[in-house]
Amino acid sequence: MNIVITGAGKGIGFETAKTFAMDPGNRIVAISRNKHLLENLLTECTNLNAKSEILTIPCDLTSATLVKELPGKILKFISSADILINNAGLLINKPFEDLTEKDFDEIFSTNVKSVFILTQALLPYLNSGSHIVNIGSMGGFQGSSKFSGLSLYSASKAALAVLSECLAEEFKEKGIKVNCLAIGSVQTEMFDLAFPGHTAQLSTGQMAEFIKDFASTGHHFMNGKIIPVSLNSP
Ligand SMILES: NC(=O)c1ccc[n+]([C@@H]2O[C@H](COP(=O)([O-])OP(=O)(O)OC[C@H]3O[C@@H](n4cnc5c(N)ncnc54)[C@H](OP(=O)(O)O)[C@@H]3O)[C@@H](O)[C@H]2O)c1
Repeated sequence: MNIVITGAGKGIGFETAKTFAMDPGNRIVAISRNKHLLENLLTECTNLNAKSEILTIPCDLTSATLVKELPGKILKFISSADILINNAGLLINKPFEDLTEKDFDEIFSTNVKSVFILTQALLPYLNSGSHIVNIGSMGGFQGSSKFSGLSLYSASKAALAVLSECLAEEFKEKGIKVNCLAIGSVQTEMFDLAFPGHTAQLSTGQMAEFIKDFASTGHHFMNGKIIPVSLNSP
């Protein structure tokens, strides 16, 4: 399978890219900003599986100009994609009164607009039968517990969830399925920023296994769904 995954330099995206790279026959395109973190990913994948096939591309996904250059780079490695995982994300933890317009633009640009730009850019190269998995958050899941300081982050993830529902409808004719995983807490730098001093429910390795399995087969059973992936209730 050919897989494109964003936010692959660290955290959940790093582990998910690595997990896919362990399977023979997978070709992975891993995107995030920091070149050195992507080099670490390449080294780790090669150490674990000398035959792993992975292309790393440093790119700021909030830049429409840079994103529009991505298909040209990606198509030198894969001719089309079976899975697109929009995982890159940004969290700013601030009381509502302290949030700025710049915070708003950065959060929505990373968590929503970049998904719009990248999905549009890659759409011609997504196979019929392919699966777009948008990584949302329990914070953006209707009726879930909410947390002070995470208003813009949670609102952006709610927007991503509804965008996923809409794209599932629009891409039906193309045979492309779209789902959104509203994930709960996973031990990463982002989690530490949101909940300093706390321990998350899941490790990146555990979540990566789930995302890999879901991205590979979940679209045979569901489309346009926002799925809560959390051990908490509600
Ligand atoms: N951890 C949790 O508990 C949790 C819970 C719910 C949802 N999520 C979601 O899960 C996803 C992964 O989160 P994480 O915890 O693994 O976060 P993380 O450790 O902070 O990793 C975020 C990744 O996104 C990349 N990224 C951020 N801005 C980018 C941009 N403008 N262009 C390209 N890449 C960018 C980062 O790399 P660079 O900085 O190098 O670009 C990094 O690789 C996010 O969408 C997050 O909202 C996480």
